[in-house]
Amino acid sequence: MDSLCVLVLAAGKGTRFKSHRVKVLHKLMGKPMLSWILESVSGLDPEKIYVVVGCQKEEVKSEVNREDVAFVYQAEQLGTAHAVLAARDAIETDLTKDILIINGDLPLLRTGTLKPLVEKHKREKNDLTFMSAEMEDPTGFGRLIFDKEGRIRIVEEREATAEQKKIKEANVGIYVFNAEALLETLPEISNDNKKSEYYLTDAIEILSTKGSRIGVFRTESLEEIVGVNDRFELASAARKLRLRKIKMLAEEGITFYDPESTWIEADVKIGRDSVIYPSVVIEGKTVIGKECVLSPSVHIIDSHIGDGVKILTSTVIQESTIEDHVKVGPFAHLRPETVLKKGSKVGNFVEMKKTVFGEHSKAGHLSYLGDSIVGKEVNIGAGTITCNYDGKKKHRTVIEDGAFIGSGVELVAPVKIGKNAYIGAGSTITKDVAPYSLAVSRSPQKQRKDWARKRRKD
Ligand code: UD1
Ligand code: CA
Repeated sequence: MDSLCVLVLAAGKGTRFKSHRVKVLHKLMGKPMLSWILESVSGLDPEKIYVVVGCQKEEVKSEVNREDVAFVYQAEQLGTAHAVLAARDAIETDLTKDILIINGDLPLLRTGTLKPLVEKHKREKNDLTFMSAEMEDPTGFGRLIFDKEGRIRIVEEREATAEQKKIKEANVGIYVFNAEALLETLPEISNDNKKSEYYLTDAIEILSTKGSRIGVFRTESLEEIVGVNDRFELASAARKLRLRKIKMLAEEGITFYDPESTWIEADVKIGRDSVIYPSVVIEGKTVIGKECVLSPSVHIIDSHIGDGVKILTSTVIQESTIEDHVKVGPFAHLRPETVLKKGSKVGNFVEMKKTVFGEHSKAGHLSYLGDSIVGKEVNIGAGTITCNYDGKKKHRTVIEDGAFIGSGVELVAPVKIGKNAYIGAGSTITKDVAPYSLAVSRSPQKQRKDWARKRRKD
């Protein structure tokens, strides 16, 4: 939008969070709370976005990580008008602009809810246009007071009389100012109030008294304008954002059996006709292909899943890549840097770490493969363990195409099993095995005839 700047007020510590981290860094669906509002204001396509930050400003900068945002520092938090003053130099650069000032704790707000406010401001050529809402319970919000002369002011909850507290129309903390009018007004705001803070809301009364043009845009989107002030409100915002995300995915052709118990973070992508069972959790930058099935309690973090993949109950997948038509689980654990190639199968109680597992290979039961490269069509018998750690270093195991590893085998790394080789069940393999050979390493079986019969007689 031409000649619009945005100023997000995010320097408040968020005392009610009782946290060593500032409020706006608390995560919502995998992203800092501040990132949500930045996303919705950037939907307005403003010329510039400024964010006023207080303590932990370096952390805020790096976690938000947006090049289109400039950060302004407010060393002491002396109120919302004081926060705007901290950005004075930035605002002064172009006084012909309009400036949208918005509280940083409104993660549910959508671009579409802001648009009509900005449009009204431009259309009516106002000095100030701000958003209000008619609330069933406006406790905690500033109330709008119109006097007989048509002047408007805001009375903060803590300053309001019992009579004023009955007013249902509240200030939601979203304002569009003409930059020049704003800068003229700021120095006139005092901190003569119960909190000894400089209230930005006082600018409304000052402008109104001067006869400036003020517009009020009353929004109907009540769900979107509730601020997040404590961790319970954070949880309810997360719930709403989560259901919004699931609804969007459902509209794109993904089946969710139980949206209420499903957790899908903001950046997750899922392909058409995939089916998500209850209690599935998908986090981070995970991408899931088409026609996958995710069974109950599957937990996937920052992973890439191909098409037609079946992931069975209680499987955990972290920072791994799974190619098309793979079957994993139940109860499998794929740790970072695991790659399951096309058509492979990984079954019950199998753990892998830093392992490339070849096309159509199988590890059905109770195995650990770490730091391994496994070729195509390899069979890993039940209970196969790569002994990859000698107490100091990790070592690699290589299993070439077509090899057959019998059950209960220990592969003491570094070790290489050649193409199409066989390893007898129960072997402990410490030396490389040549292609097409059979290696067996176990003590020969002894049998004492009638031993048990004699023992019973004793
Ligand atoms: C503010 C409004 C109130 C409105 C409510 C809506 C004022 C005086 N009151 O009250 O009318 O109903 O929002 O939610 O503005 N901040 C700074 N620096 C500061 C103080 C605050 O950056 O020195 C930031 C906070 O991080 C927050 C925002 O400004 O994002 C609002 O501050 P907060 O103290 O939460 O204001 P409220 O009391 O909620
Ligand atoms: Ca607030």
